[in-house]
This record gives sequence, C-alpha cells and structure tokens, in this order.
Amino acid sequence: MINEKIAKLINEQVNKELYSGYLYLDFANYYADEGLDGFAHWYEIQAQEERDHAMMMRRYLIDNGVRVTFDKIAKPDKTFSKISDPLEAGYEHEKYVTSLINDIYSAAFAIKDFKTMQFLDWFIKEQGEEEKNAEDMIKKMQLFGHDAKGLYALNQELAARVYTPSATGPAM
Ligand code: FEO
Repeated sequence: MINEKIAKLINEQVNKELYSGYLYLDFANYYADEGLDGFAHWYEIQAQEERDHAMMMRRYLIDNGVRVTFDKIAKPDKTFSKISDPLEAGYEHEKYVTSLINDIYSAAFAIKDFKTMQFLDWFIKEQGEEEKNAEDMIKKMQLFGHDAKGLYALNQELAARVYTPSATGPAM
C-alpha cells in the first residue's frame, strides 16, 4: 500500500495522461483536416503513448492495493489558426506535464516513498524526451515549414514514426 496522498496524485495523473492522449488526437484531427497526414500520424502515435503512460500508472496503483477511480476527461480546448500552432501547444503541454510529474516526485520524496520515486524515474526521463521531441518539431517547422517542398519532406518524415509500446517502462 502506498501513502493516500501519493495514490491520489498518481490517480489524478492517470486522468491527465488520458487527457494528453485526447488532446494529441485532437491535434491529429486538425492535421488530418489540413491534409498533413504525416503530422496526424505522429500525433496519433503520441496519443497511444499517452494512454500507455496512463495504464502504467493505473497498474502501479493496482499493484500497490489502491482502488483506482476515473474522472471525466476534459474536452480538448485548443484552437489553431496556423499549422505550427499545435506544435507550440504540444511543447507547452509537455512542460506542464513535466511539472505535474515533478510535483508527484517531490511529494514522494518528502515522505521518503522511495518505491514511488523509483517508479517515477522512468517518467522523469520520458518527460525529458517528450519535451525535446516537441522542441525539435518546432525547430524543424521553423526551418523547413515555410517552403512547400520542405513541408512535404517534414510530413513524410513524421509519417515514418513507429509506435513502440512503453511496456519496458517501470518495474511495477
Ligand atoms: Fe505522458 Fe506526454 O507525457
């Protein structure tokens, strides 16, 4: 059994991860509508990864005797006026998620919950990677996105993203 406050924070984070997946699917909807199927594909995979994150947290709670509860998933509320907007929104969102993971980590640290800290180590690393990916996408768009050929090539590059399940994540 883990501390009640920590369990509550992780349970809330399950919802936030599911929301992240929902948000990225909304990005994919936007790009599909813009005819940028590679961008749409990239965010569809990102949405799958977010669901994996939620499932990993859910499993951690269950394996530690916690009754997981679900809340409503908020409606994605971003509006886009240009094709770089979701990329910027994605970067901001990942920085926010990093702050949430850090908050849970801090709470676990404060009560010497080393097991949860170890569980969260994977997510700390993952957030570093996700922020970098989001930042790289913005840079690439700034460099190549204004030219039709460049945008075409970028779309092709993003279309090649392969989904890798996060099952190699934290040991439960
Ligand atoms: Fe689950 Fe994109 O952080």
